Amino acid sequence: MIILGLETSCDETAAAVVKNRRQILAHQVASSLPLHAQTGGIIPEVAARRQLEYLLPVLRKVLVQAFDWTPDRHVSNPPPIDAIAVTQGPGLAGSLLVGIESAKVLANLWHKKLIPINHLYAHLFANWLEKPPRNEPALPAIGLIISGGHTDLVYISEKTLFRWLGGTRDDAAGECFDKTARFLELGYPGGPAIEAAAGSGNEKNLASPLPRPMIDQPNFDFSFSGLKTAVVHYLNTNQPRREDVAAGIQNAITEVLVEKTLLAIKKYHPASLLLGGGVAANQFLVQAFRQRLDQEKQSISFFAPPPHFCTDNAAAIAAAGFFSSKQNFTQNIPVQPNAGFCV
Ligand code: KG4
Ligand code: ZN
Repeated sequence: MIILGLETSCDETAAAVVKNRRQILAHQVASSLPLHAQTGGIIPEVAARRQLEYLLPVLRKVLVQAFDWTPDRHVSNPPPIDAIAVTQGPGLAGSLLVGIESAKVLANLWHKKLIPINHLYAHLFANWLEKPPRNEPALPAIGLIISGGHTDLVYISEKTLFRWLGGTRDDAAGECFDKTARFLELGYPGGPAIEAAAGSGNEKNLASPLPRPMIDQPNFDFSFSGLKTAVVHYLNTNQPRREDVAAGIQNAITEVLVEKTLLAIKKYHPASLLLGGGVAANQFLVQAFRQRLDQEKQSISFFAPPPHFCTDNAAAIAAAGFFSSKQNFTQNIPVQPNAGFCV
């Protein structure tokens, strides 16, 4: 089975072709991120307009790459795919509409099944994409989704697929990176900027460590807005090196994520741990998970996608399509900008 994936939920425009849920035949990502870096954050209208501009060129590239197929010659002659998987939500409504409406037109024209995908699930399915000679993740698994807008812990099994265990009560981990980076004048997006600055910083140089919100609470909930406030307060009352504050922020977010995830592992004894979402591109964080799992002697397979499949991409959307029960040919797919774990 071959699935064409389309992703347009935010500022990335992506298309990919995936075979038998693991093998990537082609994938492309175009991003309007440089435009948003100029304004220090995403302006939804600007992102949606770029989606319109980038989608067809990106789609053309993957079809040529995967099948040497050019729509110019045979518009109504379909490429050899079985279905089209497209992000339904969560995301920005204007951006999502570009992908969904394009997918509907293509599915209609080519008589293909249309599979609506929850973007959050897809971040975890990125772990199925081929990394030979690695096996695919065994279930049950604990999944930690850490993106710009979400921080969620889920239990994944064959039977129910996703069960939500807990999540952030306020800001997401990625949002905390982005906002604190803005206070430090490190630019946008904040996560990669903080990771780079933290490389030459040390939290021990700060007058006091930053807080680790909710780290000792025996639940699977998170809260990162207090950390943000603590950073603002610290910057107002001290004159630290930015690198040291960046290291403190990265340590604090990482420790909370690692400890809460470990709590879930000890309670549910899963076969695998899967990370997903843009924050999982952070290699300090990935290393911290590895070390802590070793230290606790947890016999669990640990998966984190390569950085380019942590951030938004369409290969993960296509991979998620193989697991979806919603493989019906239907035109009745509304965008779901606020989709959570119950889609
Ligand atoms: O998954 P994603 O690409 O988009 C959403 O679905 O939200 O995640 C974007 C988030 C941003 O907050 C960005 O700062 C963060 O992922 N991010 C990182 C890193 N790379 C991206 N956070 C920490 N370290 C990184 N290296
Ligand atoms: Zn995402």
